[in-house]
Amino acid sequence: MTVRPVLSIGHPMLRVVADDVPTDAISSDAVQQLIDDLIDTMRDANGAGLAATQIGERVRIAVMEVGDNPRYPYKPRIALTVAINPVITPLDDEMVEVNEGCLSVPLRGNVERFVNVRVHYLDRDGVEHDEIKRGLTAGTWQHECDHLDGVLFIDRVTDRSTLATWDEFNEFQRDAFVERIAAFVDRVGS
Ligand code: NI
Repeated sequence: MTVRPVLSIGHPMLRVVADDVPTDAISSDAVQQLIDDLIDTMRDANGAGLAATQIGERVRIAVMEVGDNPRYPYKPRIALTVAINPVITPLDDEMVEVNEGCLSVPLRGNVERFVNVRVHYLDRDGVEHDEIKRGLTAGTWQHECDHLDGVLFIDRVTDRSTLATWDEFNEFQRDAFVERIAAFVDRVGS
């Protein structure tokens, strides 16, 4: 098990546009080891996802997993997913305002995310996937894919008065957000 340091906002690697992984490199030891490191690091930090750029690797790989997550207890589960060269396409213009955090940013804040998206990606075996994601799960995909383009969630915060540390979020914003988003999750189902 290898837990790697997660880079923080201000590190230039968080602002690069990462490179596609050549299909014939997916099975290489280097890429498979990087995927294992991403999973170990995400789990160690209780993240819902982690992108390769966040551990200093300039390649288009992100991992996601949500179980009983203490950082995001309201998030529906996501089975462990490895997304290589992911491409997201919104299915319509429905948006939801979600409060997000990030292992690379010591703040939370509200961002608008598409509710319904199509994701196309390769898994760690090189198998192609073409799937529909909705709700908070779609938001998690958008957050992780943004990382691969050098975009952080705070770039998308339109109401900067929502920016908060985790302690202040828990004290002043959490209850109202969880009530609102629980109703949304009930309606959308993910
Ligand atoms: Ni993040």
